[in-house]
Amino acid sequence: MRVLLTGAAGFVGQPALELLSQKHEVTAFDIRPVAGAARTVQGDVLDYKLVEAAVAGHDAVVNAIMAPNPSYGPGGPGFTINVTGLFNLLEAARVHGIKRFVHASSGAVHSGYPSGTCLTNELYPLKAGNSYSLSKLLQEELTRNFHEQHGMSIAAIRPWSILDPERMVYTDGKKVEGFGWGSIDRRDVASALVCALEKPDITYECFYVMATPGGYKITDTARTETRLGWKPARSFEGDLP
Ligand SMILES: NC(=O)c1ccc[n+]([C@@H]2O[C@H](COP(=O)([O-])OP(=O)(O)OC[C@H]3O[C@@H](n4cnc5c(N)ncnc54)[C@H](O)[C@@H]3O)[C@@H](O)[C@H]2O)c1
Repeated sequence: MRVLLTGAAGFVGQPALELLSQKHEVTAFDIRPVAGAARTVQGDVLDYKLVEAAVAGHDAVVNAIMAPNPSYGPGGPGFTINVTGLFNLLEAARVHGIKRFVHASSGAVHSGYPSGTCLTNELYPLKAGNSYSLSKLLQEELTRNFHEQHGMSIAAIRPWSILDPERMVYTDGKKVEGFGWGSIDRRDVASALVCALEKPDITYECFYVMATPGGYKITDTARTETRLGWKPARSFEGDLP
């Protein structure tokens, strides 16, 4: 497949680029320079014309863009980048007749439910606990709408707390001090994006991805394994409090 990978310079985007490039023709899109890609487009997802030009000629889009963490407060650009940015990608995909879309969502779409609530694919309405989560919730509603209105095949992957176990850091570079129930290796999130891309019969589906005993208890990750044939290659000891 000819795949546009957005957010390709990121924590998840980098391993996703590596995996996707083994089997697909990938164009890497990011506002930052991307290492290790044969084809790149550097630009802002808020620039609709640029996005439309980047999307043209592809069979699928895999989105791993995220605005940096401190930017979700009042006046910050985070909310707009996540929400309007995804709208631009979906709209450009619709305009160019692209039917397959995979989106890096987050378990945060359910973070407004009381802690201990079992997080399943069927738990609806989505409820957000903070402004970042609200941007992720609105992203999922956008994807749901584009599926319903335009027949796009869309998979949304819901990880929780992504880390790099080799350097023991999170996305923002903070040190990992211990594993919680949501801990997952960024390479396993990337492999879930690829499995979802390659699954032929997805209409609209969301998938929890977890890699700890606690994660398996509180989410229906078992369903993800069955549906996508995905399994985390690395697991951690994090359990429920
Ligand atoms: N990191 C986590 O713990 C975590 C948890 C759950 C879900 N997620 C989701 O996983 C996805 C990937 O997250 P990540 O940890 O790789 O984030 P990241 O910040 O490492 O990567 C995001 C990428 O998006 C790019 N980007 C930001 N603004 C842009 C813009 N305006 N135009 C184009 N590119 C832009 C950045 O340059 C960066 O390379 C996101 O959708 C995020 O919401 C992350």
